[in-house]
Amino acid sequence: MPKRPYVIDQMISAKSIAARIEELSREISHEYADTDKLVVVGLLRGSFVFIADLVRELDLPVEVDFLEASSYGNAMESSREVRIFKDLRGEIEGRDVLVVEDIVDTGHTLTHVLHVLESRNPAKLKTIALLDKPSRREADITADWIGFSIPDEFVVGYGIDFAQRNRNLPYIGKVRFTE
Ligand code: IMP
Ligand code: MG
Repeated sequence: MPKRPYVIDQMISAKSIAARIEELSREISHEYADTDKLVVVGLLRGSFVFIADLVRELDLPVEVDFLEASSYGNAMESSREVRIFKDLRGEIEGRDVLVVEDIVDTGHTLTHVLHVLESRNPAKLKTIALLDKPSRREADITADWIGFSIPDEFVVGYGIDFAQRNRNLPYIGKVRFTE
């Protein structure tokens, strides 16, 4: 549980998120129109709401799998060490893999995950992130599709947490401490 009191200021409304997902899913449906090998891989836990909305907009045969890598823990600082806590259930060799991330911040998590997945020889490996914080980047990586590029603010909602809270908000908001 967070120790300091805070409020959440809305940054991206549920309506804007839905509209953007509709646009992205049109591009993705187009990109994968000719394949029946697509597996969408959600990075837990932050992407669970995004992947649920995204796959329901895809007009494609699609499989869904999940992987959990370490990220922030309970602090607001990103850790440099990335660990896989929960691996994929299925094989991805020869598959078209689309990795779904909530936020690309320093970029270390996504870089590490891609490195691990690449070693399993997928036919194609691409990435989509709901949010991108380019000013925080340390690793040289950009997602193939990005929902929204945002400034260096700590955000919550729509699956994204602050110390495991606020994932259930339907919108994206920024955390503002009141003390
Ligand atoms: P990276 O390895 O620094 O790119 O970290 C990416 C992960 O850190 C994301 O998947 C999130 O789980 C977490 N993260 C980054 N920024 C925020 C934020 O503003 N709020 C909550 N979690 C964040
Ligand atoms: Mg994450």
